[in-house]
Formats: sequence, C-alpha cells, structure tokens
Amino acid sequence: MRLEAAPEGAPDIVGGLLLGRDEIASRVSEMGRAISADYAGREVVLVTVLRGGLFFLSDLCRAVADPLRIDFMAISSYGAPGQAGGVRITKDLDENIEDKDVLIVEDIIDTGLTLNYLIGVLRARQPRSLEVAVFLDRDQRRIAEVPIAYRGFHMPDTFAVGYGLDLHGSYRNLPYIGSVREEVLHRMSLV
Ligand code: PRP
Repeated sequence: MRLEAAPEGAPDIVGGLLLGRDEIASRVSEMGRAISADYAGREVVLVTVLRGGLFFLSDLCRAVADPLRIDFMAISSYGAPGQAGGVRITKDLDENIEDKDVLIVEDIIDTGLTLNYLIGVLRARQPRSLEVAVFLDRDQRRIAEVPIAYRGFHMPDTFAVGYGLDLHGSYRNLPYIGSVREEVLHRMSLV
C-alpha cells in the first residue's frame, strides 16, 4: 500500500490516498471469488460488527456467487483505547448459528481484541465452521493473535478514514481510504 496524493475534492482532513475505489473494488471481487470457491454449495452466514464493517460487507456479499445470509452484532468496549479492556454485546445476532458456516466480516483489525472476543462468543454457539474476513490488517498494533482466512490488505500504522473507517464518527462514506493529516490528529489529541 503506497501513499498517494489526496483525491481531488477530498475533505481537508485527508492528507493522502491509501487505497482508491478501483483498488478496493478489485480486491473485494477477488475475496468474493475465493469465498465463493471455498463455500461452494453451502449457505454461509456473514456476521458483521456495526458500524464500520457495513461498507465492506455490502460489497463483499455481492461478490459472493452463492446465496448467503447476513446478520449483525454491535459491541462496546471499555478501558483505554487500544488496551486490553472489556467488551460487551450491545446488539446480538438475530439468527441461531448452531451448525451454520459463519464468516465474520470486519473492516479492520488492529489489536485483535474485538475479533478475539467475538470468536470466543460465537464459537460457544457451536457453528459448523467459523472464519474471519477482514479488509484491512493493521498488524503493528496486534495484542491478540487472530486467525484470518481472508485478508484484503496489510496496512501501515496510519490513522485512516473512508470505506467504513471514521474520525469521531464522520467520513465513513468516503469511497476511498485516505490518511488523516498529522496536524488534524494532533489537534484532536489522537496521537
Ligand atoms: C473498529 C473495527 C473493529 C475494531 C478493530 O471498530 O470495525 O470492530 O475497531 O479494532 P481492534 O482489533 O483493536 O479490536 P470501531 O471500534 O472503530 O467501531 P466502528 O466499527 O463503529 O467504527
């Protein structure tokens, strides 16, 4: 992943382009093809954690050939950001996943604490299989090791927005992934 000039018309907070919409689309298509091949003939349940994963889920599920199901969870974490604190479910799945093939779909993995927690919770419900698809892997911050079956990109330790990633709740809808300017991060005490 290379840092390129910010796209024309990008918001002021965006300092550079990490992934353009074409690169995102072509990688998501590849991931969809790999998932289609692996789950051929089986109905997979895609489980996404609100809210950032929605955008990747929406593209990925349309890149999978066979019929599938989608379901959502929401969790909230407490403790210092990026530290091993606690996590609790604020919205649970609507569907029973016992004996189902389940694929967790996440926009980004950082410390791995969210996915590690989720895998523990979902495994206890005895799905037939449980795997992880993550679009961005920021592995420099990893605390908990998580097995990732499908990975979009490794990314540098950069604060990014777009394609689901937010800055205080905003900019998730940017159709590309951009880095946030250093001075913005300093002003917002994010570094
Ligand atoms: C992001 C992402 C993961 C989590 C990964 O969610 O969607 O759920 O962080 O971080 P970790 O590997 O350090 O646990 P975030 O908490 O930003 O919430 P959001 O999806 O609502 O943006």
